[in-house]
Formats: sequence, structure tokens, C-alpha cells
Amino acid sequence: MALFKHFLNPFKSILRLFATAAKPKKSLCKDGGKPPPEKELKPKLKTFQIYRYLPHEGKTFKKSYTLDLNKTGIKVLDALIRIKREMDPTLAFRMSCREGICGSCGMNIDGKNTLACLAPISPKGTTKIYPLPHMYVIRDLVVDMKHFTKQHRRIMPWLIRKEDPGPDKQLLQSVKDRDKIDGRIECILCACCSTSCPEYWWHGHSKDEKDFLGPAALLNAYRWVIDSRDQAQQERLAMLKNYFNVFRCHTINNCTNCCPRQLNPAQAISNLRLLLTNLQNKKKPDLPGAVLIEPEKACNVETDDECKT
Ligand code: SF4
Ligand code: SF4
Ligand code: FES
Repeated sequence: MALFKHFLNPFKSILRLFATAAKPKKSLCKDGGKPPPEKELKPKLKTFQIYRYLPHEGKTFKKSYTLDLNKTGIKVLDALIRIKREMDPTLAFRMSCREGICGSCGMNIDGKNTLACLAPISPKGTTKIYPLPHMYVIRDLVVDMKHFTKQHRRIMPWLIRKEDPGPDKQLLQSVKDRDKIDGRIECILCACCSTSCPEYWWHGHSKDEKDFLGPAALLNAYRWVIDSRDQAQQERLAMLKNYFNVFRCHTINNCTNCCPRQLNPAQAISNLRLLLTNLQNKKKPDLPGAVLIEPEKACNVETDDECKT
């Protein structure tokens, strides 16, 4: 008999399973499954005072907008987007990535140059937003970046080789040489550093030969000078070797203090000066320059153990 009971047990449990599946389930919510009503949050009002410039009317003024922070994202750019969408479509500002990558939303927020998409909204007081200082304003928070980009072009921000390696060759760089350009290649050209530099305010918009290039262009110039694959170090340094382009910097460090990518343009300028005065020299690259790529000998990291190391 005991053996027969044991044999029946699995059938019983299967029947129990069917029975529970057929039963209508009781809702765990008291009101029959309706979602609970949203709690009415106490409004957290915050005022943003924004610099406005309407070129067609020739008017410059400051305008205040008040938002409920409960309905706004946490960054200043979120607030600007809400103001533009819901309160004032005439407000102009630049933005693209919303993640501190494109460098287009640089502006002065509560006295500091930074990216609006990375700047958190301070819950206290009124937040004051201005365009990047000492730049020509096109409209509201949009500044003219033509001169800034021209300065960037002047430092020749591309790799220069004496001879063309050709499409079948690749340029090698050791890990140690690659490490040297770390912290220099991450610049997104937001112009926050240059426009916070007093020397750039005074001498950053002069004619070419007397133009102080500013921390952003000089950080990038240094990046190309020290790149082990570049062969135009002398030409690059010769272009910078004058009183104005580099030596105007007084190491005030405003640039480094405000860089939203935590880069150190002031240190790059100091290193550039050491190279310009021959107190430091560029070392020879660890690896030979151009090497032939032989497809049959190409590394396969999936299968080749040597390539994995
Ligand atoms: S160094 Fe920093 S602040 Fe200057 S342009 Fe590059 S990312 Fe912007
Ligand atoms: S360290 Fe040089 S480049 Fe940087 S803010 Fe000061 S003067 Fe300008
Ligand atoms: S929107 Fe791209 S950096 Fe701010």
C-alpha cells in the first residue's frame, strides 16, 4: 500500500498545479490592480538668469526663467532645453551630444566656464548663465568660434611624415610612447580653457604673428610635437618660437582649473616651453616607424597566442 501511495504522489502534484493555474489570482493591490496615484510633490522652484542678445534688434539684456526642478533633469542643459521647449523658443544655445563629448555647449555658469551638459543644477539661489567670456556673441549663448578654430588649424593638428608610408604599411607606437599622449588627446575643443585665460582675453584675438594661441590650441600643439610617429617636430616648434604664441602664458592655471575633461593645458604649455628653449628634447621612438603589413602574417588575436600577449 505504501508503495502505491508513493507511485500516486507525482500525479497529485501535477493535478494541484493545473488547479492553481485555473484559479483567478487575487490582486495584491487593495484597489483591484490600479497603479497608486502619483504623489503630489511640493514644487522645487529654481530661477535661471540668462544673458540674451538679439542681434536683429540690437538688444542685450538678462532674462529670468523659473522652473520646477521636480520636472527637470539634473544638468543645466536639461533646464535650458526645457526653457526653450516650454517657455521661450527664441533662446539660442549650442548642444549636440548631451554627454560631454562634442564640446559644443561650453558656457559660463555661475562664473565658471564649463559644459552645460555636465554642470549639475545647484539647488540654491539663482543660476546665472552667460556666453563664454571675451568672445564675440552671435546670439544669446552662441559665440563666434571662427578665430578659435583658425588657431587650432595653425598648429597643424594632423600627423606629418617625411615620406608617405603607403596603404600597405602601418605606423607602430610602443605602449610607453602612447602613454605620453594620454591626457592630451582627450581635448574636445570646447574652448572653456582658452576663454577663461586672461592672456587669451587680451592677446588671443590679435593678428597671426602676435596672437597668443591659447591653452586649447597649445595643448593640441604639444600633443603632436611629442607624438612618436610625427616627424615634423622642428617645423612645429619653429612656428611657435616667438614671444607671443606661447610665451604669453603666465602659468595662472585658470585653464587647468576649469577644463571639464580634467586635462592640464597649463602643464602642456610649460613642457612646450622646455622644448622650445632646448631644455628638453624629444626622445627617439621606441619602435621603428612604418612596417609592411603582410596579410598572411597579420596577427589574429583570436587564434594566435603570441598576439594575445
Ligand atoms: S583643454 Fe579642456 S577646456 Fe580646453 S578645449 Fe580641451 S577639453 Fe575644453
Ligand atoms: S596657465 Fe597660461 S594658458 Fe592657462 S590660463 Fe594661465 S595664462 Fe592662460
Ligand atoms: S552637448 Fe556635447 S558636450 Fe555638451
